[in-house]
Amino acid sequence: MRRALCPGSFDPVTNGHLDIIGRAAALYDEVVVAVFVNQSKSSMFTVDERREMLQDETRHYGNVAIDTFEGLVVDYCRAHEIPVIVKGLRAVSDFDYELQMAQMNRGLAGIDTLFMPTNPEYSFLASSLVKEIAKWGGDVSSLVPPDVFTRLKERTSAG
Ligand code: PNS
Repeated sequence: MRRALCPGSFDPVTNGHLDIIGRAAALYDEVVVAVFVNQSKSSMFTVDERREMLQDETRHYGNVAIDTFEGLVVDYCRAHEIPVIVKGLRAVSDFDYELQMAQMNRGLAGIDTLFMPTNPEYSFLASSLVKEIAKWGGDVSSLVPPDVFTRLKERTSAG
């Protein structure tokens, strides 16, 4: 069985993430989307909320599982026998850091990284921008799924 991991913060999941997850789901037998639990980074959504949103938005694929992890991504891969990480590349600016991580992960544990060029429609899209725009009342309805949009509106009007 060919399995791949899509790791990330997903705070919250965007249409850009879903584009990569969907394409990975077409290439692999199973894709595990793992939310990185980062205690030192403040987030808008709790890990459970992020997990729930991902579950709702990927259920229809049938071969995508959602999980969380703490610590090194390669340790998660080894523990779950996943040999490859799939990452989206939006622009050259992503490449430096992603290449560094990919080479480090390969050196640490022999885990390979497959880079997928993001759909140009989403090349500017980042969760951090979505949150900032939503906080100031901007319209992000074309950047995230409708249920995520509703949650963003609730969260930003409550805060
Ligand atoms: O969505 P993000 O925040 O860009 O995702 C980054 C993430 C979580 C994929 C990356 O920071 C990661 O893999 N963190 C896990 C800790 C780790 O293994 N660090 C060493 C990487 S060489």
